[in-house]
Amino acid sequence: MNTIAKQLQESFIRMFKEEPLIVRSPGRVNIIGEHTDYNEGFVLPAAIDKAAYLAISLRQDEEIHLVAQDLKENFSIGINSLKPVGDISWPNYIVGSAAQFLKRGIPLKGFNAVLTSDVPIGAGLSSSAAVECATVFALNELLQTGLDRMTMVKMAQKAEHEYAGVMCGIMDQFASMMGKKDHVIKLDCRSLAYEYVPFKLEGIKILLLNTNVKHSLASSEYNTRRKECEQAVAWVKEQEPGIHSLRDVTIDMLNKYVWPRDETVDRRSRYVVQEIERLTLGCQDLQNGEINALGNKMFATHDGLSKMYEVSCKELDFLVDAVRDNDAVIGARMMGGGFGGCTINLVKEAAIDGLMATLKPAYEMKMNLPLTHYISSIEEGTLLINDHV
Ligand code: GLA
Repeated sequence: MNTIAKQLQESFIRMFKEEPLIVRSPGRVNIIGEHTDYNEGFVLPAAIDKAAYLAISLRQDEEIHLVAQDLKENFSIGINSLKPVGDISWPNYIVGSAAQFLKRGIPLKGFNAVLTSDVPIGAGLSSSAAVECATVFALNELLQTGLDRMTMVKMAQKAEHEYAGVMCGIMDQFASMMGKKDHVIKLDCRSLAYEYVPFKLEGIKILLLNTNVKHSLASSEYNTRRKECEQAVAWVKEQEPGIHSLRDVTIDMLNKYVWPRDETVDRRSRYVVQEIERLTLGCQDLQNGEINALGNKMFATHDGLSKMYEVSCKELDFLVDAVRDNDAVIGARMMGGGFGGCTINLVKEAAIDGLMATLKPAYEMKMNLPLTHYISSIEEGTLLINDHV
C-alpha cells in the first residue's frame, strides 16, 4: 500500500473505528482524439499514476457520511433523498455514483467514505471521473452487485451527467476504469470496442504542463459544443437520413449541407470530422513506430481545438507555441475539455530539465500564473487496494 493509501486508511480508522475497503482510481491522459467521444469517434487515452483514493465501509442505517480529506470538508445525505448539491462539487461525484445503483433497482445501503486524491483539480486530468469510478467500483464490491467494468463505466458517466451537469462523453470514466499499465486504449466510442496499444517509447516521456488556469467556462461551453455538433448532424440528416453522428459525416457533406447554413457550426463539426480521421492515422503511426508523425498530428489537433473548435485559451496556446520548434518535443497539444488545464507533451527525457528551466520563468512572467509540471507514467485502471498490495 502506498503512503497515500496508508494515511487514508489510518484517517478512516480514526474517524469511523473500523477497517475500510480502499479503492484507487486514476486520472487520465489522452494522446489524440479530443472532443470526438460524444461524436461516436475514437479516442486514445490512458490511466496515469495520479489517482483518487476512496476508503469506504457500509453503515447500519440509511445515511451517507462523506469526508473530503484534502479539503477538510464533510457532507451527509440520506439514501432516500439523493439529489445534486448546488454549492460544493465533490459530494456530487460520490452521491451521483451511489444514486446509479438505486436507478438500476439495486438496493443501496448507507456508507461512510473518506476521499483523497493527488489528481490536480481542474487540470483536465479527469479528477471527477476518478472519484466517480472509485465510488461505483467500491460500492459494487461492498454490495456484492457483480457488475462488469463496462457497466460501471456507464454508471460513472451518468453520475457526471446527472449530478455534475456536464454532458461528457465516455472517455474519462472508461480510461480510469479500464486503463492498463504501459498501454494506451484505442476506444471506438460508438461500439465501445477497444484495443490496448503498447505505449512505452524509449527515452520519451509524457510531460504534462499545467497552466493553472481552472477551466471554469468548461461545463457550459462543453455543453454548447455538444449541441453545435448535434445541429450539424441534424442538418446533414435532412439530406442523408442514414447519418447518425459526426462519425458518419464527410467533409463533402459539410461543404454541401452545413457550411451554407452556419459558419460556426461548420467550423466545429469540421474540426471533429478531421480529428476522427487524424486519430485513425495517428494510431497507425504509433503502431508503426513513427512517433514524429504522431507528434505532428498532436500539434495539428491543438490548432484545430484552438482555432476551429475554440476551446483553448491564451495560456494553453502559449505553452504549445513555446515548444513547437523544439526538437526535443515530439508533439504537444491542449488536452481534455479545454479552457485551461494541461498540455500534453511527448518529450525526450534528457531534455525535460532544460526545457522547464526556460519555459517556467517565461510562462510565469508572461501569464502571472505558476507553471507546474508532471511526468506521467501509464498505470492500471481502477483497483481494490486492499487486495493488491
Ligand atoms: C472532457 C469530457 C470527455 C471528452 C473530453 C474532450 O474530458 O469528460 O468525455 O469529451 O472532455 O475530448
